[in-house]
Amino acid sequence: MRYIVIGAGAVGGTIGARLFQGGHDVLLIARGAHYEALKRDGLRLVTPESTETLDLPAADGPVPTRDDDVLILATKSQDTIAALAPWPSDLPVVCAQNGVANERMVLRRFERVYGMCVWLPAQLPAPGVVAAHGHPYSGLLHLGRYPQGVDDLAGTIAAGLGKRGLIGRAVPDVMRWKYAKLLGNLGNAAEALLGRVPGLSEVVERARAEARTVLERAGIAYATPAEEAEVRGRQVEVLPIEGVGRAGGSSWQSLARGSGSIEADYLNGEIVLLGREHGVPTPVNETLRREANRFARERRAPGSMPPETLLGLIDARSAAGSR
Ligand SMILES: NC(=O)c1ccc[n+]([C@@H]2O[C@H](COP(=O)([O-])OP(=O)(O)OC[C@H]3O[C@@H](n4cnc5c(N)ncnc54)[C@H](OP(=O)(O)O)[C@@H]3O)[C@@H](O)[C@H]2O)c1
Repeated sequence: MRYIVIGAGAVGGTIGARLFQGGHDVLLIARGAHYEALKRDGLRLVTPESTETLDLPAADGPVPTRDDDVLILATKSQDTIAALAPWPSDLPVVCAQNGVANERMVLRRFERVYGMCVWLPAQLPAPGVVAAHGHPYSGLLHLGRYPQGVDDLAGTIAAGLGKRGLIGRAVPDVMRWKYAKLLGNLGNAAEALLGRVPGLSEVVERARAEARTVLERAGIAYATPAEEAEVRGRQVEVLPIEGVGRAGGSSWQSLARGSGSIEADYLNGEIVLLGREHGVPTPVNETLRREANRFARERRAPGSMPPETLLGLIDARSAAGSR
């Protein structure tokens, strides 16, 4: 079996590197300066324990495929459609992404789709370099067939992930885990806008409270915090890495890189969408969705919005009624 990691950034680079270290056949798909660095120097995987340069094959576009290929999609959600477009639809696809929209988008073209709930704190500090902050494991990855179930391939992939530095778990209800993760990721946009300031937790808690109401109204189940805590234990603690700062999560990193786009439509925007479908106002998530997109579009620096500005926008939207 060969794993083709499409979008070998922070998450994809870590998964690809760990699979490669575990003895698997892996190909990384990347682009721009990151691809050039991978091709020239290999992938540098930096963890709290070690730094290793891996001579991992990389390509900057589709390659001839094999029957035993598995596509691991690890782009941000806004890049899903474009990133998968050139790949043949008879291959299985694992969505190693946050949010709950990717699997459904991918299932339109690909018959065999797997969701993956990704607990894996990582970043791309420089082209060709992936910093994976989790300790003692780089990540805990639940995966299962979408929309539900476990099959042989899910079991094989979970076992393969577990060979080196990761924990893979095949579960029959992967989307239940991903909805729980979505609640956690509603803070990404707020963190990207405000930075880790005292006002952050108030905004994030309001976004999550709104989302819990929406999920309840929509009848969508999600893993409880107690379940999450039980499986996570202390297996993926986020540790600092000497010489590598980690100012924020993946949405923060999108703004810091000035990439021009951000994942908010698929995180806060998922709650806004469900709220509209089920008649629940979502002013907090709608404000976060809009402002995060504006910051990305205008290439504003992460952490540069004062908390009182954001709270004022949320209050104004709440008073006006969320549309
Ligand atoms: N980072 C974390 O700690 C973390 C933890 C858990 C879950 N996640 C989730 O995992 C997913 C990936 O996040 P990430 O942080 O790993 O993002 P990332 O570091 O930005 O990596 C994504 C990579 O995909 C590349 N890409 C996008 N479209 C492509 C295409 N068409 N062809 C080839 N490469 C393409 C991007 O290149 P460009 O830079 O050129 O756009 C980037 O290198 C997201 O859903 C995120 O929410 C992240």
